Order: sequence, then structure tokens, then C-alpha cells
Amino acid sequence: MLSERVPEANAAGPSTALMRKAYARWAPVYDVVYDKLTEPAARAAVEAAVEHGPRILEAGVGTGLSLGYYPPGSFVCGVDLSEDMLKRARAKVRRRSLSHVHGLQVMDVCRLGYADNAFDAVVAQFLITLVPDPEAALSEFLRVVRPGGGIVLANHFGQTDGPVARVEEIVAPLCTKIGWSSDFKSTRIEAWARRNGVEFIGVAPTFPGGFFKILRMRKAA
Ligand SMILES: C[S@@+](CC[C@H](N)C(=O)[O-])C[C@H]1O[C@@H](n2cnc3c(N)ncnc32)[C@H](O)[C@@H]1O
Repeated sequence: MLSERVPEANAAGPSTALMRKAYARWAPVYDVVYDKLTEPAARAAVEAAVEHGPRILEAGVGTGLSLGYYPPGSFVCGVDLSEDMLKRARAKVRRRSLSHVHGLQVMDVCRLGYADNAFDAVVAQFLITLVPDPEAALSEFLRVVRPGGGIVLANHFGQTDGPVARVEEIVAPLCTKIGWSSDFKSTRIEAWARRNGVEFIGVAPTFPGGFFKILRMRKAA
């Protein structure tokens, strides 16, 4: 049983409430807006995650757009703050008979109700820049991943320098409205990895035109 440490209560601060409210509105239209746009990045992230083994946690699984991309024999759990998003994920699992999905639960990624070392990898797609305390989420991912396991993030990360970086800083408030942060840089995650003895494997560009990136890390064995 993976879910040994059932959380007493998920954090319910104001930002959590706002996030739930925002995604209650997004849920009915989410797949129409994001499916095709995020599919290549989601597929690449899943492929990178399953290289570490079959037991995967999808953090911020949303409507479950990527649940169909896992190979047979995977064992996938998913968590999300939004029950409205998860309802749609559960419907997909039923409709498509995705028998590798073993539970979709409401949970804050900063307070995961799983035992230490429970997964071969944690994958989080289009999540990390939405979390008010991303380092707390990363630390939870690290805790539930086994030694040698992976942490894979798919996201847009802002440029570290140059004119594009300036533009991204300017459009940041707009991007935040649609759920992306354009000025969150992968160097912030790299710094967290360094502080925590996590191997930073790298950041690879993906569709569209390198706008989304796949960031990979490995927990020390
Ligand atoms: C942009 S959507 C991405 C959903 C999915 N990963 C995808 O790629 O389609 C972000 C998701 O993260 C969830 N989320 C945001 N903050 C969270 C948190 N602290 N804990 C769990 N889920 C969270 C939202 O409810 C939403 O479903």
C-alpha cells in the first residue's frame, strides 16, 4: 500500500483556496485549451519518468491528460488540489480503462500523504510554477522518491538572460492569469538541487519551439 502517511489535513491557506477556485473554472474547458499544446511535453516527461521504474506519482495530475501515455505495467498515482479537475481525470480512467492508474486523490503537493521512498519517480507537468512554495513541493517529491529515483518537471521556464528574459518579466502577470509563470527560472530549481544533494541532470527544450522544457533530476542512490 503506497498511501501509508495519510495527511491529517491538507494545507488550506488562502492561496490553496484561490487555486481550487481558479481550477474549478478551468476544469470544464481545460482539455480543449491545453491538450494538443501540452501533449508533446507531457509525453516526453512521462517517457523520462518511467526510465526510473514503473511506480510513478503524478503531482498536479489535473484532468489526467497524460495518464494515457504510460506504458503497460506502470503503477501510477495522481494527486491534485482540485476535486473538479480530478473528477475529469477519474472519468478518463474509467472511459479508457486505464488500469495502470491506482488512485487519484485530493492532496497538496507540499503535504504528500505517501511513505518515504514510495515511488521510482515523481513527475509534475505545468505545476511547479503555480505552487507558492515550490521548494517545499520539491522537498516532498524528494522524500517520496526512492534513492536513485527521478524527479521530472515539464514547464515553461523563463530565460535566464537576454532580451527574451525581459519580455517574459513584462508578460508575467498575464501568464499568471492563465496559470503559467513566465519569469520562473530553472536556475531556482537547480539551486534547490545543489542545496539538497540532488543530481541536476538537465533541461531539454520541447514543443512548441522550445517554449516548454523537460527538467530532470535524480535523487542520490
Ligand atoms: C496547469 S494545471 C496542469 C495539470 C496537468 N498536470 C496537465 O499537464 O494537464 C495545474 C494543476 O496543478 C494543480 N495544483 C496547483 N497547486 C497545487 C498544489 N499545491 N497541490 C496539488 N495540485 C496543485 C491545479 O489544481 C491544476 O490541476
